[in-house]
Amino acid sequence: MKIIIINGPNLNLLGKRETNIYGDLSFQEFFDELKEKNPTIKLSYFQSNIEGELIDKIQEVGFDYDGIILNAAAYTHTSIGIADAVAGITTPVIEVHISNTYSRESFRHKSYLAPNAKGIITGFGLQSYELALQSFL
Ligand code: DQA
Repeated sequence: MKIIIINGPNLNLLGKRETNIYGDLSFQEFFDELKEKNPTIKLSYFQSNIEGELIDKIQEVGFDYDGIILNAAAYTHTSIGIADAVAGITTPVIEVHISNTYSRESFRHKSYLAPNAKGIITGFGLQSYELALQSFL
């Protein structure tokens, strides 16, 4: 089974960025542990701060992989381009967020991706990614 985690802008700063909201573990540390726990899955990871690069990656994997775990970060709330990419592929996408976006500012309540996501997991810290992975399994 081939699953990819795709992270959007500023998530490269996890562990350093607003640690009261996002925690103090870097994504690489979390990802290494997740891979160790799930040795039979072909699990890969891609992060970009650039909208077009995220779209390119979604298109590249979106007809071949078994699942995409997507945290588009701020682009969740703004990007019709990423929403169209999610709508245009055949691989199921689970939208995840570390924080509970519905308990935060109102601009975070809107997701352009949600209508075409298989499901949404929000607010469980980095465990949101793990829950999404379990759902694909
Ligand atoms: C986030 C929530 C977004 O609103 C925010 O822009 C992020 C991270 C989360 O994982 O909680 O960068 O997607």
